[in-house]
Amino acid sequence: MSTTPLAPANQPRKRLFVKTWGCQMNVYDSARMADVLAPLGYAPAESAEGADMVILNTCHIREKASEKLFSELGRLRSAKQAKEAEGGRMVLAVAGCVAQAEGAEITARAPYVDIVLGPQSYHRLPEMVARATRAAGAVIETEFPAEQKFDQLPEASAPQGPIAFLTIQEGCDKFCSFCVVPYTRGAEYSRPAAAILAEARRLVAQGTREIALLGQNVNAYHGEGPDGATWGLARLLHALAEIPDLARLRYTTSHPRDMDDALIAAHGAIPSLMPFLHLPVQSGSDRVLKAMNRGHTADEFRRIADRLREARPDLALSSDFIAGHPGETEQDHQATLTLIAEIGFAQAFSFKYSPRPGTPAAGAPLHVAESEKDRRLHEIQALLRDQQERFNRSRQGMRCDILFTGLGRHPGQLAGRSPWLQPVHTEGSPALIGRVVVCEITAGHPNSLAARILGGATGDPNQEKAAA
Ligand code: SAH
Ligand code: SF4
Ligand code: F3S
Repeated sequence: MSTTPLAPANQPRKRLFVKTWGCQMNVYDSARMADVLAPLGYAPAESAEGADMVILNTCHIREKASEKLFSELGRLRSAKQAKEAEGGRMVLAVAGCVAQAEGAEITARAPYVDIVLGPQSYHRLPEMVARATRAAGAVIETEFPAEQKFDQLPEASAPQGPIAFLTIQEGCDKFCSFCVVPYTRGAEYSRPAAAILAEARRLVAQGTREIALLGQNVNAYHGEGPDGATWGLARLLHALAEIPDLARLRYTTSHPRDMDDALIAAHGAIPSLMPFLHLPVQSGSDRVLKAMNRGHTADEFRRIADRLREARPDLALSSDFIAGHPGETEQDHQATLTLIAEIGFAQAFSFKYSPRPGTPAAGAPLHVAESEKDRRLHEIQALLRDQQERFNRSRQGMRCDILFTGLGRHPGQLAGRSPWLQPVHTEGSPALIGRVVVCEITAGHPNSLAARILGGATGDPNQEKAAA
């Protein structure tokens, strides 16, 4: 609950521009920061030009994060000076994981930054903005833990549209060798189920039809249930599936180690849990998985994939891969290609290993040459691209539910999402936005699907299925 007084009705609207890098959790956080600032009179702006407040919500996961930030700050400095020359004021804030990792170093390098706040401090923005406008010198908040942040979120929030993100878990205790997240987001924390269910109901009342539950380790969720017992993710999904008019559920990002029996079974038992799962494996070599501290083998991942497909035969998988972790040999790389070929991914992300300061892998011996990382990444991506194209083509001729999310790029066109998260385009009436409609897939392109509407929109996914 926010203690911020509401802006008087006659107070002029102030313009807030938020730029977001990184994962979906940052997207969620940016929306919440806007919600927290709304009672102070800040309304979203399309650009930083002339804005009264600019927030850069940053990501630290791979290289060049701080370079990107400082070049953006350089550009904003001129916009801020221009505003001041007119007698105005632009409050400049750096948020997110670079803010957490670099803290005061940011204001040392860019003294015109007013606020530096870590991912767990954004509920304190109103107070920080007040301090920054009163005082000379920057306001810096980079403390853990996450509890307070969620407790103090305002209930009022701007509608997110047919598809919304909902953070249910933050932080990570797994300490993979290569990853900064445990250092920037802190220890694992799960929100109480009642707060999540209330937020989901509010989103649905505002027109959301599909919710993606978010967490750095979303399937490690172990929150307090309304009954006082500890709920795992499967239990939470079953409760969310009861919300009328919530047509679709997803969750991301999961760790293979936390795919427990109840969660795998939930994929077979909950029709609104979409048949698409992002499950990062990183490597197909047991040696590298061990060096990465992932806590599972390649065969254990294969077994999880099999069991998920047994539970839900139309389930498609997505994953993350890292090319050239320290110590990775050609043989290890080949094992990754073999795993990809065996599993078959509908989509996936792959990255060149990037040393992150302070992580164990950064200091490990046997770093792989840059040119070698490039080659391995290229091979992984070629294989994954081919699998994605084949998967998309395989949807051609299928009948399936499409959730329409907005207008397409061309006149008369609608944009939507398939059950497998592919972007879909079709001709149709804007009245269908926010509805789940039975369509026939007419073409599978490399990155999207084309469709033809078959059914009317009842808005009830289960009725749609029965009719199909
Ligand atoms: N929590 C998720 C992923 C978080 S980061 C998980 O456990 O899988 C998202 C992805 O970025 C990771 O899956 C990994 O593939 C990639 N990544 C993280 N650190 C990286 C690094 N130092 N270099 C290259 N890729 C990295
Ligand atoms: Fe990073 Fe590993 Fe935690 Fe994922 S599980 S956030 S890759 S440390
Ligand atoms: Fe980036 Fe932080 Fe997300 S490092 S990927 S914004 S958790």
